Order: sequence, then C-alpha cells, then structure tokens
Amino acid sequence: MFRKIKENIFSVGAIDWNRKLFDELIPLPDGTSYNSYLIKGSEKTALIDTVEPKFSEDLLNNLSELGVENIDYLISNHAEQDHSGSIPTILEKYPEATVITSKKGKGMLIDLLKIPEESVQVVEHQEVISLGDEKLEFIDTPWVHWPETMSTYLQQENILFSCDFFGSHLATSDLFVEDEAEVYPAAKRYYAEIMMPFRKIIKGNLAKLEEYDIDMIAPSHGPIYNNPQFILDAYQDWVSDEVKPEVIVPYVSMHGSTDKLVKYFIDSLMKENIKVKPFDLAEVDLGDLAISLVDASTVVIGSPTVLTGPHPAAVYAAYLANALRPKTKYASIIGSYGWAGKMVDKLVELMPNLQAEILEPVVAKGYPGEDDYADIDRLVEDITTRIK
Ligand code: FEO
Repeated sequence: MFRKIKENIFSVGAIDWNRKLFDELIPLPDGTSYNSYLIKGSEKTALIDTVEPKFSEDLLNNLSELGVENIDYLISNHAEQDHSGSIPTILEKYPEATVITSKKGKGMLIDLLKIPEESVQVVEHQEVISLGDEKLEFIDTPWVHWPETMSTYLQQENILFSCDFFGSHLATSDLFVEDEAEVYPAAKRYYAEIMMPFRKIIKGNLAKLEEYDIDMIAPSHGPIYNNPQFILDAYQDWVSDEVKPEVIVPYVSMHGSTDKLVKYFIDSLMKENIKVKPFDLAEVDLGDLAISLVDASTVVIGSPTVLTGPHPAAVYAAYLANALRPKTKYASIIGSYGWAGKMVDKLVELMPNLQAEILEPVVAKGYPGEDDYADIDRLVEDITTRIK
C-alpha cells in the first residue's frame, strides 16, 4: 500500500517485517523497511530510491494503485541493492525514466546492476531539477556508508530524503516517528554498524546540512522524522569527539580463568562507580556491542589463549572494533593462558585503527592468583584516573 506524506508526496516502499540479518552479518532484531518516495510535481514526477528486489512487486503495485503512468526521474541516492535493486524493474515498466545519481553512483549502478549508461544522468552537488512547482536539490553526503551516497532535498517542502543517512532498521506501521525512545536505539544501532567508521566525514555532512531548513527527514529505512532535530541532535552527539566514562568488556572464557578475571574486573569498576558493560562473546548480538562502542571511552577485551593466539571470538571482537573505528580513548586486554602464547600481541596487532592508549594488559597463567588480581586493581586504577 502507498501512504500519503503531504499533498502529492507519497511513501511507496515496502516493510520487511521478518528480515533478521543484513549482509548475512548484521542482526536486525526489529526487521527493516525499504522506503521509496513518489513526488508528483505539476509537470514532472520523480521516484526517490527503490526497494530490495524481493519487494519489486510491492513497489510496482503501490505505483499502480496511485495511478502513476509515467516517471520522469528515478533518483538513486545510494547504489546499494536494498535501494537500487528494483531500478531495472522500474525501468522496464517506466522506460521513459531518467535515473539521476551522483558521478560515483553512475559507475556503481552500471557495474552492480548493468543499468544502461544512456538511462543515467549525473548530478553535481547542489544541482537542482525542476518538477514544475516542486524543485529537487541534490546534496553530496558521501560515505554514509558508501562513497557515492547523496541526499535529495525537496526545496519548497523542506524535506530531506537522506536514504541510509539517519535511517533505522525498524519495521513499523508508523509512517512518522511516534515514539522517539523506540527509534533512538534502532537509529543508533544503524549508525554504529555501518556509519561509525566514517564519523569524521559524517560530521562534515551534518555541517553541510546546516544551511538548509529541514522540516522533515525521510530516510530509506525506518519511519520519517517530522521532528528532525531529534535525529540531527543524536547524530551530532554520536559523531562528536566526546566519549562517555564507560568501560566495554567483550570477553570469552573457556575453562573459567578469564571469566574469574573479568568478574573481578567488573566488580572493581563498579566499586569505583564506573559504568561497565560486559558482552559474553559466546552469545553476543554484535549490533549491541557496536552500539556500545559508539561513545564508550574504554574497551577491555577478555580472552583465553587458543593455539598460542586469542580465542576466535575475541579475534572477531577485535576485528570488529578495528573496522568500526570507534572513538575509544583507552583499551586493554585481560585473559589467560595454559603454557605459553602471544594472545595479547596478536589482539593488539588486530586493532591498528583504534587510536586508543593501550593500558598494561593483565594475563594469568591458569586460574588467577593474588598477583593477577593485584594487576587488575592496577588496571582499574589506571582506567579510573583517566576517565573519571
Ligand atoms: Fe540501506 Fe547502504 O543500504
């Protein structure tokens, strides 16, 4: 079904209530949506982004229900297939449509979807296309989270169509955000999982948007923000250089040695009134871990030694932390070994992107003894003096 946003502006995308994973990697506990928007100008009609190919039929049906007989412009803000994948289907049904995208977007649409070059028109930053009474302006907002991403601004209505930027993986019947407390964690999870590595560029994108009056943000996942300040403020907070005095502890234990150290470490931090969040890597939702990495000051990974190196679950956590490039200021490692190993060195090597001060790790041989607990006390003191 289509839904009316304003006079001549409609939501025509699809809700994916049951999707559990994105990219076969990112958990989607609340499903998602692929939002597509139709704008009927007095002279021309534009469709902004399409839907995951599995939902092409829904998009076509929605356009048909709306009585759309021709599409002049098909705006592709982002070439990833959950938004671009139905472009070939739309072009089949509406062959007169010109695909509008960024310069990099053009190459990607041709490479990824084999869209004929002659159907694509490149637009520059702040170029304007007229639909008659309505005008679309294109704003370069790269790296949210691919290099080609742009946003589309509907000038008279002050609506920003931002695609992934500001999106949330949230399947909901609400067209507009009704409950900010529900949307906030979903939007933060989305930022954490794919945009955090580009924090500094996103900061620049937010600065670019400051020159626009924005009354509504219509992303391509999740509900529309009719109070855009809510999500703009949240993004300003996430991309800022500020960190919170929190310690994240992703850990895994095999025979209980690392577990004993981790428990003692957590209790000691709590005695110092420091917020601490442990994540048992044997059963963690990686999205929850990513959310915590957005603003925590400190990450301490707990790992036993397996075949001279870290436990593979700890390797995964270190790889993730390195890839997501959080603004973590302090990091350390606690863990254990049976006879020998290079667990600490290998974990540190896995995190070259982490611009964090590495605090002296604590590694016990077998079950921790008094000396090891004393070393944990020292690590807690190191952390406390830095973040309190
Ligand atoms: Fe929602 Fe980057 O695609």
